[in-house]
Order: sequence, then C-alpha cells, then structure tokens
Amino acid sequence: MADVRDLYQEVIFEHNKNPRNFGVLEDHNRHAVGHNPLCGDQLTVYLRVDDQDTVEDVSFEGTGCAISVASASLMTQILKGKAKEEAEALFQAFHDVCTKQREVEDAPELDKLAVLAGVRDFPSRVKCATLAWHTVHAALETDEAGAEVTTE
Ligand code: FES
Repeated sequence: MADVRDLYQEVIFEHNKNPRNFGVLEDHNRHAVGHNPLCGDQLTVYLRVDDQDTVEDVSFEGTGCAISVASASLMTQILKGKAKEEAEALFQAFHDVCTKQREVEDAPELDKLAVLAGVRDFPSRVKCATLAWHTVHAALETDEAGAEVTTE
C-alpha cells in the first residue's frame, strides 16, 4: 500500500510542478473564479463549450497548494470532450469519494482522479481537491460574463 501511496504522491507532485492546461484559454466562452476561504487561494477556470454544452477545451490559472493545483491539472485532462452532464456526474462522483460517501473502487469513472482520493482522510484538504471542480461547475452554469464561487 505504501508503494501505491508513493506513486500517488509522485503524480500529485508532478502535476503541481508542471500543471497541464495552465493559463488563459484565449478563445474561452465561459469562465469562473473559485475561492477557498479557508486559505485564501483562488483559481480561475476557462472553458470553451459548443452549442450542445460539450467541453471542447479547458484551462485554469491561479495559485493554490499542491493538491489544488494537481487536482485542477488532472481535471482539465479528464474534462476535454465531456458533455456538461458527464462533467457534473464526474464532479459528483469525485466529491462523494473525497467525502467518504462512496468508495474509490465504486467510482471507476474517476480514472486518474483516484490519486487524489487520499484527501478523504484529511477533511480540511477536501476543499483543496474540489476547488477546481466547484469552479468548473460554476463556469458551466454561467454565461460569458463569468461567475464567482467558494468551496463553502
Ligand atoms: Fe489553499 Fe489547498 S491550502 S487550496
């Protein structure tokens, strides 16, 4: 088990050091700003969605701890090409796993996101792991003017 944890730590470390899809998405048509009031960290998520509300492209920027940045990075990788309903279902599954309402083994759709499931043993870190997801949820619900959301 220690080996698996080490691997998970490595993935989180690597995504924090080299976040994927980081920066402003030039041709975005939705965006939202997410705050974690516990620490003051803030992320902005940019989306380009098509007429059917499918995520064509996604990026993020901002500052946060290693878990929040790694979670945002992994999220951008998994969201491309997903319909709004699929994205919302992933958020729900991820949230349920992080808050112990569901076991990791029962949520195979999370795929790479499972490396973040360790936060379930550290309740204060759940908001770190879910910050980007709260933000993308707000972005999907808003129009081009953007939205602001907190993890509370
Ligand atoms: Fe701020 Fe994790 S400590 S998002």
